[in-house]
Amino acid sequence: AAPAPAGLLEDRLLPLLRAVPDHPVPGVTFRDITPLLGDAGALRAAVEGMAAALPAGTEYVAGVEARGFVLGAAVAVAAGAGFVPVRKAGRLPREVLAEEYALEYGTATVELHADALPAGARVVVCDDVLATGGTADAACRLVERAGGEVASVAFLLELAALPGRARLEEHGRDVRSLLR
Ligand code: PRP
Repeated sequence: AAPAPAGLLEDRLLPLLRAVPDHPVPGVTFRDITPLLGDAGALRAAVEGMAAALPAGTEYVAGVEARGFVLGAAVAVAAGAGFVPVRKAGRLPREVLAEEYALEYGTATVELHADALPAGARVVVCDDVLATGGTADAACRLVERAGGEVASVAFLLELAALPGRARLEEHGRDVRSLLR
């Protein structure tokens, strides 16, 4: 089926993304995607919408732990691509590449298996929410260090009031978000 027009998707999906004030720390508004994940039709619409926006020739979706795993794996299946996990520090069992980044709350490290990608692989980095862009930026660096090419960066929700898109675009990334 043809993808639904963006306005209809937003009417249907945005109410299922709940803003939770002061979580996990005071002053931060957490975007909870679990109501959307629990709604079969909304989940399908979100995954199909994100898959339809992938650049042609996408070979791998690199999903960022943890919510980027749920969406990224589903998007990979829908698009006929493989899935590669970008994990928080210390979780992957073999040789890893690591990148540090700053979150809205604290700092963290993401890791990718050093041999996760064949040279020149066309990869889309996928996550649920784009806020400051720090996480996705680090994931893109990992993909490139592993020998892949970042074809685009895909999000379910872009928080347009925050500078995430500008930060990623400054680094030459093609940002594709389903909802804003
Ligand atoms: C959230 C979200 C993104 C990131 C976005 O993850 O899922 O990965 O923050 O923020 P940024 O654009 O400012 O980097 P979180 O660290 O809460 O991890 P989780 O998915 O494991 O809950």
